[in-house]
Amino acid sequence: MVKQPPLLRTEKLTRTLTGEIPITLVKQADVAIHAGEFVAIVGPSGSGKSSLLYLLGLLDKPTSGDLFFDGMNMSTATEHERARTRLAKMGFVFQFHFLLPEFSALENVLLPMQQLGEVPFEQGKARAIELLTRLGLKEQMHKRPHQLSGGQSQRVAIARALINKPQMLLADEPTGNLDSTSGNTVKQMFRELARTENCALAIVTHDDSFSAQADRTIHIVDGVIQP
Ligand SMILES: Nc1ncnc2c1ncn2[C@@H]1O[C@H](COP(=O)(O)OP(=O)(O)OP(=O)(O)O)[C@@H](O)[C@H]1O
Ligand SMILES: [Mg+2]
Repeated sequence: MVKQPPLLRTEKLTRTLTGEIPITLVKQADVAIHAGEFVAIVGPSGSGKSSLLYLLGLLDKPTSGDLFFDGMNMSTATEHERARTRLAKMGFVFQFHFLLPEFSALENVLLPMQQLGEVPFEQGKARAIELLTRLGLKEQMHKRPHQLSGGQSQRVAIARALINKPQMLLADEPTGNLDSTSGNTVKQMFRELARTENCALAIVTHDDSFSAQADRTIHIVDGVIQP
């Protein structure tokens, strides 16, 4: 059987903050994530998990090293190409949902689709409604964020992250701000959706029960991935 190349691969990815005292956030990181794979990123507070995730998600640029995503060298890509890749091929979920307060849940989910502009509106809307329904939010989709609970808002953020059918979903402590019941629902939905959408997951989490469900764990200490 021919082995598929990884969806995402880094070579000696390094991010240093220059200042009076330079700080290295991520040191020489070699990471490979395959299509549909669930990878948990764990480590102590301040070890560089978010920094690594932002590099993998093209939200930050490395000081040195390379990052290949879907066959493209992102280190030499233009800012426009990086932004396009983020929008079309990646989805993001953070600890706080960052929904826009003036829009309904459904409208929030539709925004990245309209920004991408590749799918006719009605088709995208049908997908948004389907995602929200699968996430148990059929009754809530016309509500605005202030009318939703924390867990419901986070599920809207997951639907928004998935609307453009990303190849990879990146999340930074997506359940960090939720009570255990909402957290469990969100975790279960992440896995289900990733499986049905064949979407790779890279998730930073402090939650051992969540990382235990991952295919693989990346453990980072002081900016260095542990062997
Ligand atoms: N802009 C910045 N300026 C200075 N130091 C920073 C900056 N961003 C991150 N750091 C430092 O870099 C290190 C790694 O930070 P990072 O946020 O990646 O850690 P983390 O593993 O996500 O931590 P946590 O679990 O608390 O979220 C920390 O020591 C942090 O204080
Ligand atoms: Mg962090």
